[in-house]
Amino acid sequence: MSDDKKDIKKLEEHFDGIIEHDHPLPNWWVATFVITVVFSIFYYGYYELLDGPTLDQELSVKMAEIEQQQKDSVGKAFDNLDQDVLKQEFIDKGKVVFAEKCFMCHGQQGQGLIGPNLTDNFWIHGNTSQNILHVIQKGVPEKGMVPWEAVLSAEEQIATVAFIKSLKGTNPPTPKAAEGTEYKD
Ligand code: HEC
Repeated sequence: MSDDKKDIKKLEEHFDGIIEHDHPLPNWWVATFVITVVFSIFYYGYYELLDGPTLDQELSVKMAEIEQQQKDSVGKAFDNLDQDVLKQEFIDKGKVVFAEKCFMCHGQQGQGLIGPNLTDNFWIHGNTSQNILHVIQKGVPEKGMVPWEAVLSAEEQIATVAFIKSLKGTNPPTPKAAEGTEYKD
């Protein structure tokens, strides 16, 4: 052990030729330690004595915020439904979705098979864009119509409504017999 290290102070006490050195901790270390102790006092006070929120509570507040934001943005996607369903780009996109996911029950041209004819003026659940969107989203599980809300994006849902709306009066061959109520408009 060399005595020439400047930062090592020799202490007065020695015993049996053994000299005790004082090697102070670096200031940054002491400062960090003091800060953590002070922090722990406030932390303990807030979370344990003043009943601050638990991690679970903080999480559920944040999750509720996120869910609300998601709901708001999905809700907004359908704000212009009536205008959107008239757009050709949506009709084209809806045709693709329909050919993949809906044709097996509603027929290639929407003429109806297991599910009802979508080209006539008869509707079981109403003929507005909102009515049709609602059936697509929630389905009619007890009648065999699948809910698509979790499968199709908001845009795809709008697109399928647009495509179905465009089928009106197309008179495909071998249509399924009318079901539901007749709508004149
Ligand atoms: C497994 C068969 C099946 C599939 C797949 C299916 N549907 Fe249906 N769908 C039905 C049945 C059955 C009904 C009739 C429900 C009732 O009687 O209430 C129906 C009803 C509907 C209606 C309401 C019709 C009315 O008269 O009110 C719409 C709109 C519709 N489906 C759209 C779709 C779209 C869009 C898809 C694809 C994304 C799809 N369906 C896929 C079976 C299906």
